[in-house]
Amino acid sequence: MDITVFGSGYVGLVTAACFADAGNTVVCVDVDARRVETLSRGEVPFYEPGLDQMVRANFQQGRLRFTTDAAEGVSHGLFQFIAVGTPPGEDGSADLKYVLQVADTIGSLVTDYRVVVTKSTVPVGTADKVREALLAALQRRGESVEIDVVSNPEFLKEGAAISDFTKPDRIVIGTDNPRTAELMRALYAPFNHNHDRIVVMDVRSSELTKYAANAMLATRISFMNELANVAEKVGADIEKVRIGIGSDPRIGYHFIYPGCGYGGSCFPKDVKALVHTASESGHAAALLAAVEDVNQRQKRVLFENIRKHFGGDLKGRTVALWGLAFKPNTDDMREASSRVLMEALWESGASVRAFDPVAMHETRKIYGERADLALCDNAEAACEGADVLAIVTEWKQFRSPNFERLKKLLKQPTIFDGRNLYDPQLLRRQGFAYYSIGRAPVGV
Ligand code: UDX
Repeated sequence: MDITVFGSGYVGLVTAACFADAGNTVVCVDVDARRVETLSRGEVPFYEPGLDQMVRANFQQGRLRFTTDAAEGVSHGLFQFIAVGTPPGEDGSADLKYVLQVADTIGSLVTDYRVVVTKSTVPVGTADKVREALLAALQRRGESVEIDVVSNPEFLKEGAAISDFTKPDRIVIGTDNPRTAELMRALYAPFNHNHDRIVVMDVRSSELTKYAANAMLATRISFMNELANVAEKVGADIEKVRIGIGSDPRIGYHFIYPGCGYGGSCFPKDVKALVHTASESGHAAALLAAVEDVNQRQKRVLFENIRKHFGGDLKGRTVALWGLAFKPNTDDMREASSRVLMEALWESGASVRAFDPVAMHETRKIYGERADLALCDNAEAACEGADVLAIVTEWKQFRSPNFERLKKLLKQPTIFDGRNLYDPQLLRRQGFAYYSIGRAPVGV
């Protein structure tokens, strides 16, 4: 089938590459000429396991091409995916400027029947706005072309994007038109394995489903972080509590890991946007607002522990930092807890020696060269001459460090662990002071 994808960001590129890999012919349109050029060289401008090989292979075999030419895109695909960014506005609402620009472009150029699919995470009611923008553009031209608008939210996780796309838990299709549902069903057939994973529903329910999924997951995390703080105060161990509750199949073990807060491009933005949508509809979403507040507070827990450890004075101190990305297997630093920690440390006069297996380049892009940030070649190098060590991302390679060497490298053998990677008693025996999340500090 012929498919056009507007937007070659995270969701757009994964969508385009996976559809091309399934044998479709895909044109990916982006307004950013440099990005189009980079992609046409087979280079993916962000880190996602397996994606660059997939882009290169399909590009070379002629099933995937990149262009800035919207007319080429509109004339190519029966399916026109909108996968451009929806950045948060000042008030937390999702900014639909780019989505509606694409709708306007399609409406200005379209000559034959098209299925326009909103893939970006967009607030309830966006499909209607997209339809209005398409019709307004058609009217300007005095044309009438049949177009269907479908909501088809994307649930992929960074770091596992390809397998999430090609082996999805569910494929949500929001449309009131049975014929469009059938077209979408045929399009997704290669990814609809074992049992039928396609869920067809009305457009608004589909749009809300995406926010509901992310808000539910974010709520689980904030719930655990809230409890972690209680556990610490009452002398309980949140890791024991986690196992105790996870064994109930109604709760389950997934997404109940306490930590130093959630980040990334989805949870923070989507929870805020849902709070905004709710309030616009006349409902104050108290629970969701609390989920966000708890998360912001949680991102400061490591800093507060470090500050207290040094009696409130961090001037001239150096903190080694392991992990910069918002989670392992990505170089994405959006809303990463590491940023809150580093910025608070710098503000207090401390400096940072950081290491992340893939996010160093991204960090340099955000913060540039600065005297109070050293980007180190490996995890041990980050500890050299640092006072203490803080951990914010649970990369596998941080799980079994050589503690004897760390003790020699750090001025004080002290670890502030935002992801509960180690057994506190083991660290105490090794001679460390160890602060973690929702467990009493040991060795302090
Ligand atoms: C998320 C959703 O999982 C995905 O379905 C949606 O399409 C986009 O948003 P992603 O942002 O890539 O995906 O990351 P995810 O793996 O969900 O992690 C989000 C954040 O939550 C990370 O900062 C992670 O460290 C944190 N987290 C996750 C916890 O703190 N505890 C947990 O138990 C799980």
